[in-house]
Amino acid sequence: MASSILFFGFLALSFIHALASDPGSLQDFCVADETSNVIVNGLACKDPEMVQADDFSFSGLHLAGNTSNAVGSRVTTVNVAQIPGLNTLGISLVRIDYAPWGINPPHTHPRGTEILTVIEGSLEVGFVTSNPENRLITKVLQKGDVFVFPIGLVHFQRSVGNGNAVAIAALSSQNPGVITIANAVFGSTPEIPSDILVKAFQLDKNVVNYLQSKF
Ligand SMILES: *[C@@H]1O[C@H](CO)[C@@H](O)[C@H](O)[C@H]1NC(C)=O
Repeated sequence: MASSILFFGFLALSFIHALASDPGSLQDFCVADETSNVIVNGLACKDPEMVQADDFSFSGLHLAGNTSNAVGSRVTTVNVAQIPGLNTLGISLVRIDYAPWGINPPHTHPRGTEILTVIEGSLEVGFVTSNPENRLITKVLQKGDVFVFPIGLVHFQRSVGNGNAVAIAALSSQNPGVITIANAVFGSTPEIPSDILVKAFQLDKNVVNYLQSKF
Protein backbone atom coordinates (compact mmCIF):
# COMPACT_ATOMS: atom_id res chain seq x y z
CA MET A 1 0.00 0.00 0.00
CA ALA A 2 2.65 2.48 1.12
CA SER A 3 4.91 1.50 -1.77
CA SER A 4 2.14 1.96 -4.33
CA ILE A 5 1.36 5.42 -2.89
CA LEU A 6 5.08 6.19 -3.22
CA PHE A 7 5.08 4.87 -6.79
CA PHE A 8 2.07 6.96 -7.87
CA GLY A 9 3.51 9.97 -6.07
CA PHE A 10 6.72 9.55 -8.02
CA LEU A 11 4.76 9.08 -11.26
CA ALA A 12 2.80 12.29 -10.61
CA LEU A 13 6.04 14.14 -9.87
CA SER A 14 7.73 12.96 -13.11
CA PHE A 15 4.59 13.94 -15.02
CA ILE A 16 4.73 17.49 -13.61
CA HIS A 17 8.40 17.72 -14.64
CA ALA A 18 7.64 16.49 -18.15
CA LEU A 19 5.05 19.27 -18.53
CA ALA A 20 7.17 22.14 -17.20
CA SER A 21 7.38 23.53 -20.75
CA ASP A 22 6.02 22.65 -24.20
CA PRO A 23 6.97 19.21 -25.58
CA GLY A 24 10.19 18.93 -27.59
CA SER A 25 10.12 19.22 -31.38
CA LEU A 26 10.71 16.15 -33.60
CA GLN A 27 11.84 18.25 -36.61
CA ASP A 28 13.72 21.50 -37.35
CA PHE A 29 10.50 23.48 -37.26
CA CYS A 30 6.75 23.22 -37.73
CA VAL A 31 5.65 26.67 -38.85
CA ALA A 32 1.96 27.04 -38.00
CA ASP A 33 -0.33 26.69 -40.99
CA GLU A 34 -2.97 29.29 -40.17
CA THR A 35 -5.26 27.99 -42.95
CA SER A 36 -5.40 24.41 -41.64
CA ASN A 37 -8.60 23.10 -40.07
CA VAL A 38 -6.75 20.26 -38.37
CA ILE A 39 -7.13 20.40 -34.59
CA VAL A 40 -3.96 19.18 -32.87
CA ASN A 41 -1.99 19.98 -29.72
CA GLY A 42 -0.39 23.19 -31.04
CA LEU A 43 -1.00 23.99 -34.71
CA ALA A 44 -0.61 21.97 -37.92
CA CYS A 45 2.64 22.46 -39.88
CA LYS A 46 2.97 24.41 -43.10
CA ASP A 47 4.79 22.69 -45.99
CA PRO A 48 8.49 23.28 -45.09
CA GLU A 49 9.18 24.22 -48.74
CA MET A 50 6.79 27.16 -48.39
CA VAL A 51 8.37 28.54 -45.21
CA GLN A 52 9.86 32.05 -45.40
CA ALA A 53 12.01 34.22 -43.09
CA ASP A 54 8.92 36.26 -42.21
CA ASP A 55 7.40 33.14 -40.60
CA PHE A 56 10.12 33.52 -37.92
CA SER A 57 9.96 37.28 -37.56
CA PHE A 58 8.03 40.10 -35.84
CA SER A 59 8.56 43.87 -35.93
CA GLY A 60 7.48 46.61 -33.56
CA LEU A 61 8.69 45.62 -30.11
CA HIS A 62 10.48 49.00 -29.85
CA LEU A 63 7.03 50.66 -29.72
CA ALA A 64 5.58 51.50 -26.30
CA GLY A 65 2.21 49.91 -25.48
CA ASN A 66 -0.72 52.15 -24.53
CA THR A 67 -0.94 52.17 -20.71
CA SER A 68 -4.06 54.42 -20.51
CA ASN A 69 -6.27 51.85 -18.78
CA ALA A 70 -7.48 50.99 -15.28
CA VAL A 71 -4.29 49.11 -14.29
CA GLY A 72 -1.72 51.35 -15.99
CA SER A 73 0.13 48.69 -17.98
CA ARG A 74 0.08 47.02 -21.38
CA VAL A 75 1.45 43.66 -22.45
CA THR A 76 2.51 43.29 -26.10
CA THR A 77 2.74 39.58 -26.88
CA VAL A 78 5.08 37.89 -29.35
CA ASN A 79 3.94 34.28 -29.26
CA VAL A 80 2.80 31.76 -31.88
CA ALA A 81 -0.12 34.04 -32.76
CA GLN A 82 2.37 36.68 -33.99
CA ILE A 83 5.23 34.36 -35.14
CA PRO A 84 3.88 31.13 -36.69
CA GLY A 85 7.44 29.71 -36.68
CA LEU A 86 7.25 29.46 -32.86
CA ASN A 87 4.84 26.52 -33.19
CA THR A 88 6.27 23.48 -31.28
CA LEU A 89 9.38 25.44 -30.10
CA GLY A 90 8.25 26.05 -26.50
CA ILE A 91 9.27 29.70 -26.23
CA SER A 92 7.80 33.20 -26.61
CA LEU A 93 8.33 36.84 -25.63
CA VAL A 94 6.42 39.85 -24.29
CA ARG A 95 7.08 43.55 -23.86
CA ILE A 96 5.38 45.13 -20.84
CA ASP A 97 4.92 48.89 -20.52
CA TYR A 98 3.98 50.49 -17.19
CA ALA A 99 2.73 54.00 -16.44
CA PRO A 100 4.15 55.49 -13.22
CA TRP A 101 2.79 53.26 -10.40
CA GLY A 102 1.01 51.09 -12.98
CA ILE A 103 0.58 47.39 -12.21
CA ASN A 104 0.47 44.16 -14.14
CA PRO A 105 -2.24 42.62 -11.93
CA PRO A 106 -1.94 39.22 -10.21
CA HIS A 107 -2.11 36.50 -12.88
CA THR A 108 -0.70 33.09 -13.78
CA HIS A 109 0.59 31.47 -16.96
CA PRO A 110 -0.79 27.91 -17.02
CA ARG A 111 1.79 26.72 -19.56
CA GLY A 112 5.01 28.67 -18.99
CA THR A 113 7.74 29.81 -16.63
CA GLU A 114 8.63 33.48 -17.16
CA ILE A 115 12.02 35.21 -17.02
CA LEU A 116 11.77 39.02 -17.00
CA THR A 117 14.31 41.81 -17.31
CA VAL A 118 13.82 45.53 -16.65
CA ILE A 119 14.82 47.73 -19.60
CA GLU A 120 13.64 51.05 -18.11
CA GLY A 121 12.48 52.20 -14.68
CA SER A 122 12.08 50.14 -11.48
CA LEU A 123 9.65 47.33 -10.76
CA GLU A 124 8.40 45.74 -7.55
CA VAL A 125 7.71 42.11 -8.51
CA GLY A 126 6.48 39.07 -6.65
CA PHE A 127 4.98 35.61 -6.79
CA VAL A 128 3.13 33.51 -4.20
CA THR A 129 3.99 29.89 -3.49
CA SER A 130 1.22 27.27 -3.55
CA ASN A 131 -0.85 26.08 -0.54
CA PRO A 132 -0.48 25.81 2.37
CA GLU A 133 2.40 28.29 2.74
CA ASN A 134 1.24 30.94 0.21
CA ARG A 135 4.54 32.70 0.82
CA LEU A 136 5.08 35.96 -1.06
CA ILE A 137 8.53 36.09 -2.69
CA THR A 138 9.13 39.69 -3.67
CA LYS A 139 11.89 42.07 -4.74
CA VAL A 140 12.42 45.53 -6.21
CA LEU A 141 14.19 45.37 -9.57
CA GLN A 142 16.26 48.10 -11.19
CA LYS A 143 17.15 48.46 -14.85
CA GLY A 144 19.12 45.39 -15.95
CA ASP A 145 17.86 43.15 -13.14
CA VAL A 146 16.30 39.78 -13.98
CA PHE A 147 13.58 37.84 -12.12
CA VAL A 148 11.89 34.45 -12.62
CA PHE A 149 8.20 33.59 -12.13
CA PRO A 150 7.84 29.78 -11.89
CA ILE A 151 5.17 28.12 -14.04
CA GLY A 152 1.62 28.30 -12.70
CA LEU A 153 2.28 30.60 -9.72
CA VAL A 154 0.32 33.81 -9.16
CA HIS A 155 2.58 36.81 -9.81
CA PHE A 156 2.48 40.58 -10.42
CA GLN A 157 4.61 43.62 -11.15
CA ARG A 158 4.27 47.28 -10.13
CA SER A 159 6.22 50.24 -11.46
CA VAL A 160 7.73 51.99 -8.45
CA GLY A 161 9.52 54.84 -10.19
CA ASN A 162 8.00 58.17 -11.13
CA GLY A 163 8.70 57.59 -14.81
CA ASN A 164 7.50 54.92 -17.19
CA ALA A 165 8.89 51.40 -16.87
CA VAL A 166 9.53 48.80 -19.56
CA ALA A 167 10.25 45.09 -19.19
CA ILE A 168 10.96 42.29 -21.65
CA ALA A 169 10.05 38.76 -20.60
CA ALA A 170 10.50 35.35 -22.19
CA LEU A 171 8.18 32.42 -21.44
CA SER A 172 8.76 28.69 -21.84
CA SER A 173 5.77 28.09 -24.11
CA GLN A 174 4.74 29.07 -27.65
CA ASN A 175 1.38 29.95 -26.03
CA PRO A 176 1.85 30.36 -22.25
CA GLY A 177 -1.72 31.60 -21.67
CA VAL A 178 -2.75 34.18 -19.07
CA ILE A 179 -5.29 33.87 -16.26
CA THR A 180 -5.81 37.26 -14.59
CA ILE A 181 -7.15 36.33 -11.17
CA ALA A 182 -9.66 39.17 -10.70
CA ASN A 183 -11.07 38.80 -14.22
CA ALA A 184 -11.30 35.01 -14.05
CA VAL A 185 -12.97 34.97 -10.63
CA PHE A 186 -15.21 38.07 -10.76
CA GLY A 187 -15.57 38.48 -14.52
CA SER A 188 -16.37 35.00 -15.85
CA THR A 189 -19.18 34.46 -18.38
CA PRO A 190 -21.58 33.34 -17.09
CA GLU A 191 -20.79 34.58 -13.58
CA ILE A 192 -19.72 32.24 -10.77
CA PRO A 193 -22.76 32.22 -8.40
CA SER A 194 -22.18 35.16 -6.05
CA ASP A 195 -22.91 33.10 -2.89
CA ILE A 196 -19.89 30.94 -3.79
CA LEU A 197 -17.70 34.05 -3.99
CA VAL A 198 -19.21 35.42 -0.75
CA LYS A 199 -18.04 32.28 1.08
CA ALA A 200 -14.75 31.85 -0.78
CA PHE A 201 -13.58 35.43 -0.20
CA GLN A 202 -15.50 35.99 3.07
CA LEU A 203 -17.06 39.12 1.60
CA ASP A 204 -20.42 40.83 1.90
CA LYS A 205 -22.80 40.01 -0.97
CA ASN A 206 -22.87 43.71 -1.99
CA VAL A 207 -19.09 43.74 -2.32
CA VAL A 208 -19.22 40.62 -4.51
CA ASN A 209 -21.94 42.14 -6.68
CA TYR A 210 -19.87 45.32 -6.99
CA LEU A 211 -16.76 43.37 -7.97
CA GLN A 212 -18.74 41.31 -10.49
CA SER A 213 -19.97 44.56 -12.07
CA LYS A 214 -16.37 45.85 -12.37
CA PHE A 215 -14.93 42.88 -14.32
C1 LIG B 1 -4.62 54.92 -25.60
O1 LIG B 1 -5.81 54.32 -25.11
C2 LIG B 1 -6.79 55.29 -24.71
C3 LIG B 1 -7.93 54.52 -24.03
O2 LIG B 1 -8.38 53.45 -24.82
C4 LIG B 1 -7.24 56.08 -25.93
O3 LIG B 1 -8.21 57.03 -25.56
C5 LIG B 1 -6.02 56.78 -26.54
O4 LIG B 1 -6.37 57.43 -27.73
C6 LIG B 1 -4.90 55.77 -26.82
N1 LIG B 1 -3.69 56.48 -27.20
C7 LIG B 1 -3.02 56.18 -28.30
C8 LIG B 1 -1.79 56.99 -28.54
O5 LIG B 1 -3.35 55.30 -29.08
